[in-house]
Amino acid sequence: MKQRLERAEDALRTAVKQRDAAFYPHFHLAPPAGWMNDPNGLIYHQGRYHAFYQHHPFSENWGPMHWGHATSPDMVHWQHQPIALAPGEEYDRDGCFSGSAVDDNGVLSLIYTGHVWLKGEGNDSAIREVQCLATSDDGIHFTKQGVVLTPPPGIMHFRDPKVWREGDSWWMVIGARDADDRGQVLLYRGSSLRDWQLDRVLAQAVEHSGYMWECPDFFALGEEHLLICSPQGIRARGYDYRNLFQSGYLRGEWQPGDDFVISHAFSELDHGHDFYAPQSFLAADGRRIIIAWMDMWESVMPSKAGGWAGCMTLPRELRLQNDRLRITPVAELTTLRRTHQSIAASQIHNRSEPLIADAGALEIITRWDLSASSAESFGLKLGDGLKIAVDSQAQRLTLQRHYPQHGIQGYRSVPLPTHGTLELRIFIDSSSVEVFVNQGEATLSSRIWPEPEQRPLALFAENGQAALLSGDHWTLAAH
Ligand code: FRU
Repeated sequence: MKQRLERAEDALRTAVKQRDAAFYPHFHLAPPAGWMNDPNGLIYHQGRYHAFYQHHPFSENWGPMHWGHATSPDMVHWQHQPIALAPGEEYDRDGCFSGSAVDDNGVLSLIYTGHVWLKGEGNDSAIREVQCLATSDDGIHFTKQGVVLTPPPGIMHFRDPKVWREGDSWWMVIGARDADDRGQVLLYRGSSLRDWQLDRVLAQAVEHSGYMWECPDFFALGEEHLLICSPQGIRARGYDYRNLFQSGYLRGEWQPGDDFVISHAFSELDHGHDFYAPQSFLAADGRRIIIAWMDMWESVMPSKAGGWAGCMTLPRELRLQNDRLRITPVAELTTLRRTHQSIAASQIHNRSEPLIADAGALEIITRWDLSASSAESFGLKLGDGLKIAVDSQAQRLTLQRHYPQHGIQGYRSVPLPTHGTLELRIFIDSSSVEVFVNQGEATLSSRIWPEPEQRPLALFAENGQAALLSGDHWTLAAH
């Protein structure tokens, strides 16, 4: 693997010099250059956080998957590390696909999918997928240990292992597609990372809920268990499932050795345009955190013209509170805050009120009194490309994008809270926006592509009046 890694690093060094800064994030993790998709191997290990990710260092397009790598003291400031895995063995010839990391007696261990195209690249009907192990003593350089698990009979799509330790066993969930093209999650139990037995089918698609379930993740949250997965093949329905693929969760109860008893049907984790393949991990103090790929397969990615593509969402804490999942930005993000300004209460009547001339890297919180607002549409605008607005007629909060030069149009939305106040906490970076509604009752994450002149931020109200209760904003430090 050493030579292949060196070749990849060489290509990356050249590509970094040519990378265009225009859309490159100030405070999100993105590849140094080239392509990025799923987060992999997220873990807090021996005093630092590791984020690995699906990476193609040779171009800004998806290709034979490597594992890129970055480390951080706080999940917020990331430092790039050498590429951790390069494909090329007989069992991972065409890609080191997604997977996870665990600490095995002090040894940082990666469990990933070795992918091989049997009838040419991109032909999904003939592939071989197996689970593989790689280990490291220093947390930076990895040695492949080979295949540790092959698929059960009749299953070909078999990928994205998420491993954890519980009691005196290892456990692993794997995404699969059964012989009848139904997505499923398989649960394995291991006496070591090299010795796995199928425990059971943990969950599977019912009608119309996906032909393949990618990137499963399974963990306790409060008294319950959450099964996260990213199904392919769910069709759009009304306001839901608008993206090509979805990421969501099932809630239920589970004990080792038992079935997963599902109590709540599949629900999307995020409602923006760009959120896929989230993976969770435990923070140093035990909080359950997720990070997702903030893009979607087959979407337009204008940053490719600048030699890179893909970035991660901010890390988010998951909690169950009052029987609802809450998703909030990790507390560590406040360390990015620099210049602060508060926004006074005001009535905005049929006008646009300029707030910030150039919103580059910004956190902004606004609180609105819904019952005292009559406007048909009100909220925030970034240039003429992005609107985050209440639609009073539909009773929804919308995130609307308008970048016709890139062929990007359209909106995503969530229902308005039924009580009176709407709090919007928004993070804006060079090419992304993340909206946290009422302390994490809902989130919307989307890539945006504003030109420099499309960065003024304004508050607005159309056809009536909007009651702004208060607000704050901060410039954010670039890393
Ligand atoms: C999800 C996914 C995974 C796979 C990886 C390949 O986005 O399709 O199932 O392991 O990406 O890059």
